[in-house]
Amino acid sequence: MDITQSRAIVTGGASGLGAATAKGLTAAGATVTIFDQNPDGAAFAAEIGATFFQVDVTNEGNAADALDRAYDAMGGLNTLTNCAGIATTEKTLGRGGPHALDSFKRTIDINLVGSFNVARLAAERMNEGSVIVNTASIAAFDGQKGQAAYAASKAGIAGLSLPMARDLARNGIRVMAIAPGIFRTPMLEGLGQEVMEGLAADVTFPRRLGDPAEFAALVRFIVECDYLNGTTIRLDGALRMP
Ligand SMILES: NC(=O)c1ccc[n+]([C@@H]2O[C@H](COP(=O)([O-])OP(=O)(O)OC[C@H]3O[C@@H](n4cnc5c(N)ncnc54)[C@H](O)[C@@H]3O)[C@@H](O)[C@H]2O)c1
Repeated sequence: MDITQSRAIVTGGASGLGAATAKGLTAAGATVTIFDQNPDGAAFAAEIGATFFQVDVTNEGNAADALDRAYDAMGGLNTLTNCAGIATTEKTLGRGGPHALDSFKRTIDINLVGSFNVARLAAERMNEGSVIVNTASIAAFDGQKGQAAYAASKAGIAGLSLPMARDLARNGIRVMAIAPGIFRTPMLEGLGQEVMEGLAADVTFPRRLGDPAEFAALVRFIVECDYLNGTTIRLDGALRMP
């Protein structure tokens, strides 16, 4: 797709990887609408020349309504990047007892069900030549202690790429996923400088955290490269978690 013809929705676009993607696509000439539950996204969207709708990606009515409004505002829809997500840590069996079922379900609901919810509703409104990019994580393959819920949600995202690409082939819609390693975003910065430096030391090369602009560059490449379909690309500096 010619990037200047891209009419793109970016979920989770108020922060981190989504914000960098919204900024990168806008700068490249795409028309962008941000969906985020955080109302602070409105000021950011205005700053980069995008439109903002406050959306909870897990809410069917809320997402469908916002998609209709975004479609009208942009004069169409041919690109979706799902970046809305949460990071959770809890052991299957911790000192205080078993993993709470509610927190497990909530992680799956936002990261996996929320992405699928917006993707299925967006597909209904997309023309031939469109593309959907979901955000997995290397935790989909190398989940760590305490990541049962998060890793399961991201493995679900990786698992969606091929069947969705097959389902949507007759509509001419491609489906891809990116599995980021460790990127410097507010989600990660919450862990503190020392933890971030420790994580960066494990990256093979380049030995540093990922820059959200690098994630945005890959999203742009996926949008532009029409032959990419049905798979998950690791973006991780060859990091393999133990
Ligand atoms: N940062 C990393 O190192 C990293 C690594 C692998 C995968 N990821 C994944 O990338 C995605 C983006 O992560 P990030 O680091 O930019 O995080 P972030 O916390 O900076 O941004 C996430 C955004 O999603 C929004 N959001 C959360 N729940 C939502 C909901 N129900 N509806 C609408 N918006 C919602 C938040 O308001 C926030 O703006 C997540 O799916 C995350 O799991 C991040």
